[in-house]
Amino acid sequence: MVHATSIVELREHQGSNRDAPCVLVPTMGALHDGHASLIRQGALLARERGWGGGCIVSIFVNPTQFNDPADFERYPRTLDADLRLCQQAGANCVWTPHVTHIYPLGRTIEAPLLPRVAQAPGLEDAYRPGHFEGVCQVVARLFDLVKPKAAIFGEKDWQQLQVIRAMIAILMPGLEIVAGPTLREPDGLAMSSRNRFLSAEDRRRARAISLALCESNAAPDIDQAQANMRRVLASEQIELEYAVVRSEGTLEPGAGPWRALIAARVGSVRLIDNSPWRPSIQPRA
Ligand code: PAF
Repeated sequence: MVHATSIVELREHQGSNRDAPCVLVPTMGALHDGHASLIRQGALLARERGWGGGCIVSIFVNPTQFNDPADFERYPRTLDADLRLCQQAGANCVWTPHVTHIYPLGRTIEAPLLPRVAQAPGLEDAYRPGHFEGVCQVVARLFDLVKPKAAIFGEKDWQQLQVIRAMIAILMPGLEIVAGPTLREPDGLAMSSRNRFLSAEDRRRARAISLALCESNAAPDIDQAQANMRRVLASEQIELEYAVVRSEGTLEPGAGPWRALIAARVGSVRLIDNSPWRPSIQPRA
């Protein structure tokens, strides 16, 4: 596995095979088994398709997607462990660009047009204004530099996945966006780089998030599903941002297929999770 720290080294890796198709797994590091699963998926996809460029993992903590500078500062940086995980998961190259490689003129590079789904009411935009502008800006730049044929994004950031899909459909329609499943701890908590910040007590309370998603699926309609989620989260005094059921592609209220989505703060840690939602068939009385 090659570790490229500049655009020149990335080009050297892509080398004479500049046109060999590759799969990109964009990350911000602090990698866990959920990322390892995305990298394995990327490496397998490249092998199956016979793509000589293999699987490239980018690790870049993107300042423009953090609306709170303190959150950016405390985002975990664990490069040595990340490199080991990438190697074990079968990456061909890990690219760790410097901020000046991504934003050579400061952070002012043109951000692509923001898809409507980024501003779906009551979701991420309401709590992290500007977040998806930053995500679209960095992802478009990473795609431009790496020129992958496919890229893998985790389903855990469901809204991000829809935003990237919508952006790519307009900007780079030849590029395939592949979703990777959410990996969970044995008690159901979705794996996240932020879980390491939970105190032991908050870690115990955090399992209420996946329980709330399960409870949403025991409801016959959307109102009841949302009420079930709020009840489970309140039982652990979890500070809720949103717990809603939306159309899975647009993330607006509307027709199915649906997705249940939660964002909540457990102690000082903000966690998100989601799952497919279907109305449960209630037994007749
Ligand atoms: O999901 C993430 O880790 C980030 O938002 C991404 C896609 C790597 C962009 O910085």
